[in-house]
Amino acid sequence: MPDFVRIFEMGPRDGLQNEAALIALADKVALVDKLSGCGFDHIEVTSFVSPKWVPQMADASEVLARIKRASGVAYTALTPNMRGYEAALVARADEVAIFGSASEGFSKANINCSIAESLERFRPMVAAGLRDGIPVRGYVSCVVECPYDGVVRPEAVARVVAELLEMGCYEVSLGDTIGAGEPESVRAMLEAVLQVVPAGKLAGHFHDTNGRAIENIEVSLAAGLRVFDAAIGGLGGCPYAPGAAGNVDTLAVARRVGALGFETGLDLGRLEEVAEFAKGLVGASTHPTEEL
Ligand code: HMG
Ligand code: MG
Repeated sequence: MPDFVRIFEMGPRDGLQNEAALIALADKVALVDKLSGCGFDHIEVTSFVSPKWVPQMADASEVLARIKRASGVAYTALTPNMRGYEAALVARADEVAIFGSASEGFSKANINCSIAESLERFRPMVAAGLRDGIPVRGYVSCVVECPYDGVVRPEAVARVVAELLEMGCYEVSLGDTIGAGEPESVRAMLEAVLQVVPAGKLAGHFHDTNGRAIENIEVSLAAGLRVFDAAIGGLGGCPYAPGAAGNVDTLAVARRVGALGFETGLDLGRLEEVAEFAKGLVGASTHPTEEL
């Protein structure tokens, strides 16, 4: 049996959250429905955040209400606070994610609180997830570098990861939010994190700003990680991480890990078609007047 790598599809959330022009609800639903036929077991659909902070995700409930749910696929959503958690539950998200940071500057910019305050905010959410049977995933952003504070110490990452797992997150995704990671810095960060938690509890979330994401995934594979976040068409970025490019392209990850002998369960032919559709959506929204 080949070793299995799980690719957690981020396109509808991490991909679309950063688009300046609003993407139509029907297009978001179509994107998720197309992705449902590609073989993913997790698709991050949307986020229940403040619409003042991220207007693009204001239709979170409607998107979850309209998608066709395929069996075997968990449709997940980001939730920054209890209000988001409760809204996600009503909208029947199968799983939610809380998102913190290893750097104070990004924590403040992205969720308007310190790291310590965020952990206190997350604790009752994870407890609620455990009570309600909703798996809660954790993210730690800026695991290598922060757009506000600069280089982030690996020990700072390890501390937040350990806290999130201790609370009851089933997995923590390590976010190189601005794509500044290089194989050496990613390896050093992983070494520190793996001293406190096992590789089986971790995922890699690499943005591809500097074109190093695939190399960083290879470093992570060597360290024992087997879950990677990726966005169809390489869409997106984070509105509170200026200049950051999108998540690493799903197809590029699937091809690379396949070439390395890992099974992903994904249908590459279908992925290619969905990638074209996804790029069309963004092209249309970013340059609306070119269509005229
Ligand atoms: P705040 O301003 O400190 O909080 O924002 P607040 O409680 O004063 O709320 C502000 C307004 O939002 C209020 O509305 C609330 O009711 C409302 P008003 O009274 O002014 O009309 N509000 C909400 N509305 C809907 N759903 C909610 C919600 N909560 C409050 N859940 C807050 C704090 C956390 C809400 C805000 O900072 C926020 O929404 N931040 C989210 C930013 C975000 O989504 N960033 C992108 C996702 S993270 C990411 O991309 C990184 C990742 O990919 C990993 C990586 O790459 O590293 C995951
Ligand atoms: Mg991200």
